[in-house]
Amino acid sequence: MISVSKNNIYKFYVFYGTFIDTPKLGQLRIRQNTSVGVCTDENSDKVGVIEFIKENSKNPLEDAKEFDPSLTDSDVAIVDYTHDAHSSIFFLPGFIDTHIHASQYPNAGIFGNSTLLDWLQTYTFPLEASLKDLETAQIVYDKIVRRTLANGTTTAAYYTTIDADSTKLMGRICSELGQRALVGKVCMDSCSPDFYVESTQESLESCEEVVNFLQEELNDPKVLPILTPRFAPSCSRELMKGLAATSRSKGHLHIQTHLSENEGEIDWVKSLFPECKSYTDVYDSCGLLHNRTVLAHCIHLSDEEAKTIQKRGSGISHCPISNSSITSGECRVRWLLDQGIDVGLGSDVSGGHACSILACARQALLVSRHLAMKEKEEHDKEHVKLTVADALYLATLGGARALAMDQTLGSFEVGKQFDTQLVDIESQGSNVDVFHWQKSNFSPLKSTVLAPPSIAQEDILAKWFFNGDDRNVIRVWVGGKLSHTL
Ligand code: GUN
Ligand code: FE
Repeated sequence: MISVSKNNIYKFYVFYGTFIDTPKLGQLRIRQNTSVGVCTDENSDKVGVIEFIKENSKNPLEDAKEFDPSLTDSDVAIVDYTHDAHSSIFFLPGFIDTHIHASQYPNAGIFGNSTLLDWLQTYTFPLEASLKDLETAQIVYDKIVRRTLANGTTTAAYYTTIDADSTKLMGRICSELGQRALVGKVCMDSCSPDFYVESTQESLESCEEVVNFLQEELNDPKVLPILTPRFAPSCSRELMKGLAATSRSKGHLHIQTHLSENEGEIDWVKSLFPECKSYTDVYDSCGLLHNRTVLAHCIHLSDEEAKTIQKRGSGISHCPISNSSITSGECRVRWLLDQGIDVGLGSDVSGGHACSILACARQALLVSRHLAMKEKEEHDKEHVKLTVADALYLATLGGARALAMDQTLGSFEVGKQFDTQLVDIESQGSNVDVFHWQKSNFSPLKSTVLAPPSIAQEDILAKWFFNGDDRNVIRVWVGGKLSHTL
């Protein structure tokens, strides 16, 4: 007898259509007429996992039955987007936001002419402190999770506030709304305003409380803890060492923090930790750098600092909208990638004003061109420029690698989770105008030298990359489950 779960009457889904991903930096893979089979049997340990991929498929149901002959027609749901022959609809891995402050969302767009240190005092700390009120936190956290899902973000590394209860609430909200998340209670025991600071002991204990809640009580494999020393100036050595010890003792829990964002900040760190060789060395000497550590910004690193990060296998979150908005600088992404450092994208709401990772990918591409303009040699100019494929890699697999989650996320491979957005370039109200002659199936009635050119799938993708937004994200699945519908 077939066991039918309450939530999903189908044991298996086959998604059928055009799949686009970036299996390597700079490589765009476009697979048309492709079947991707996903286990949706809640009783299976494979639930949410891609079980097969068949290119040039003619019959997705047959593909499923060939994969598992015990499946019957009624076990399998087919999600078919091949009927749209002009390729305006495609599946793309969900975006990964490697750095976002959920608590700062009400301030998105509000930063005036501030730079990091005055921005924190003027805008950020008062807002974060106010989220101790659970009703306020509920409104803000519910909104940011829904908004990022609507923009195609399937995984996010969140900062909340120093408050444990509202951080637990954030964990519950991510779980209920079906977003994969790393949820971090902010830890800060130094150089912080009286209304927004903890003692070292309070910080370590409330952090432990949140970790235990997420791991034991919430117990959703999609929602994991991440230890979050805010940045070196707001943390004592004792706190940072304590968090490093917690991470180690619990099997290398994820860690996130800020590094080398702003020149004033760097000078301040030098004066606070004169015994350390560099800002990076502050974290390294406390044991905070390992391969599940993600470091936001990393704009002004020395060669030696980059080498340390590479050696430790830590990832970097490039936050280009934030870096331009609060005038922090231009991160040398190609320089980092060339050294084998994993780089993903972060919205850094609300240093960044947009929670869309597509918007961040565009800004990453543009910032790389600003860096190119400063290069003297033609070859160097070309090299530092990020392409559309590079930027999409950063937004997906690059982010997964930066979070050490690339075994399960970031591209369409057998064994990975089906965390996916369905993009329709010509959805209702789309901001992307594709002219009929630009479609691949266009054949001009008469052949004339003046016939407007049709364009390749890559060009259609570029049109979406530069002009698209949440209006094009028509469905989002996380672990094979539908989490958003336009
Ligand atoms: N450095 C310390 N705290 C923050 C923050 O909230 N945002 C950014 N962008 N940088 C920080
Ligand atoms: Fe940040």
